[in-house]
Amino acid sequence: MSDAPPSTQPLVLIEDVHTYYGKSHILHGVSLQIGAGEVVGLLGRNGVGKSTTLKTIMGLVQPSQGRVLLNGDPITGIPAHKLALRGIGYVPEDRRIFRLLTVMENLRTGLDRRGVTEGTKRALLDKVFKYFPVLAERRNQAGGTLSGGEQQMLAIARCMMLEPKIILLDEPTEGLMPRMVSQIGAIIDALHQENVAILLVEQNVPLTLSASQRVYIMEKGAVRHQCAASAIDVNDPVIKQYLGV
Ligand SMILES: Nc1ncnc2c1ncn2[C@@H]1O[C@H](COP(=O)(O)OP(=O)(O)OP(=O)(O)O)[C@@H](O)[C@H]1O
Ligand SMILES: [Mg+2]
Repeated sequence: MSDAPPSTQPLVLIEDVHTYYGKSHILHGVSLQIGAGEVVGLLGRNGVGKSTTLKTIMGLVQPSQGRVLLNGDPITGIPAHKLALRGIGYVPEDRRIFRLLTVMENLRTGLDRRGVTEGTKRALLDKVFKYFPVLAERRNQAGGTLSGGEQQMLAIARCMMLEPKIILLDEPTEGLMPRMVSQIGAIIDALHQENVAILLVEQNVPLTLSASQRVYIMEKGAVRHQCAASAIDVNDPVIKQYLGV
């Protein structure tokens, strides 16, 4: 272990989390933290527990042991829809866009909540249309008719409607063409500029290393390595050890 994370209070802190699916022990004491506005990569081979880590933070699965803190407050046991209103955004691997709703209707599902003025709604829509001009072009098109990359953009844009402090992004570039992959990288950079924290689960190591400030590498349900993203490159032995085929 090297390059300790920032010493100020983290935005999200995961402490010694153990998670089971039925009798299968999946997370074996995962600890990690994400600072306000920090982009943190979470790497690891298939099945090591990356998505389960995100689901545990989001309250979609309950840990049997350990806890998750948001700004120092324990949030374990709080349901996902409440955490979404407290600033945790989640874009799952399968994106979950509403295929029969238009792009605009998909975005509005994140806007129809208490205390959001018409002015704020307009500003949020303007912002995502600036980030994703293609969504503006296709605003009246059904979500299901978008390409994979456009659906990923819609999923991120819909998440942004909730003004998250952190976005848990599960393999956003999976199955996308290289041009779309760079666009997702640019969006992550733009969110970082706006001080939105991101926990980025990816198989794309170069993208993760360029988009993140720090990375954690998991193996068999536990974090085995953490370091500054600038401290390693794709040819580093730790990448080969934990991610090589
Ligand atoms: N709902 C579930 N019920 C039972 N086992 C599950 C369930 N979801 C995942 N698992 C198992 O838990 C382990 C961790 O899965 P998880 O999806 O967290 O891995 P991952 O690191 O995200 O992998 P991938 O890179 O394939 O997305 C795997 O062995 C998987 O088969
Ligand atoms: Mg996964």
